[in-house]
Amino acid sequence: MQWHPPLPMKKITIAIDGFSSCGKSTMAKELAHSVGYIYIDSGAMYRAVTLYCIESGILQGETVNTERLRREIGTLRVCFHFNPTTHHPDVWLNGINVEEKIRTMDVSSRVSQIAALDFVRAAMVAQQQAMGQEKGLVMDGRDIGTIVFPDAELKIFVTATPEVRARRRYDELTAKGQAVSFDEILANVKERDYIDQHRAVGPLRQAADAILLDNTLLSVDQQRQWLIAQFKRVTDTE
Ligand code: DC
Repeated sequence: MQWHPPLPMKKITIAIDGFSSCGKSTMAKELAHSVGYIYIDSGAMYRAVTLYCIESGILQGETVNTERLRREIGTLRVCFHFNPTTHHPDVWLNGINVEEKIRTMDVSSRVSQIAALDFVRAAMVAQQQAMGQEKGLVMDGRDIGTIVFPDAELKIFVTATPEVRARRRYDELTAKGQAVSFDEILANVKERDYIDQHRAVGPLRQAADAILLDNTLLSVDQQRQWLIAQFKRVTDTE
């Protein structure tokens, strides 16, 4: 009897949006890994642009030289390369691996300002859409299901209470030995929620066809099972 290999499953696009410190990247990375998809952290791209602004002097104190950034944004090469040690893609800026540098407090505290600029968003969205042409991709961010991939087959919008998100962040930072105050972290979480939701361009909001995942009371394992079930539900009917 002739053997037929299983038919390759049709690849889809998965958009994961939501509030900061909801564990979006961890879940997106894991999901991509378990279904053999590419993972793209869109926030890392805004962080890379912010790093460029800091290092090039475009950002000085609170002031952004928007005219210069507008001229230079088209020359920035932001891309991802697979890291064989972590098994996840690292972000590269103009040929240099900047994965570690973009996670510093200096970048974290200034990225919202850069991510709010319309021409920065237009440039990043165009690059994100180009990366998604082949499908088979999980991308996480704030505007993936609404602006970047409005036709994504699976859209998930993640939330949890600010207190739970602040607690997770507090535990993460104290485990790294950083002396932080819970109240300060909670205030920062709430401030970032406000900025993300009230930005004029690409604000954070749930797409009408996105499924809400409130992970306040879910364990990591419950969440993992829930995600795989959603993936199977969509791919089985594709
Ligand atoms: O997910 P993150 O914390 O690494 O995101 C960094 C910043 O970029 C944060 O201020 C939100 C912003 N961002 C955005 O505006 N749009 C996206 N698609 C992803 C992130």
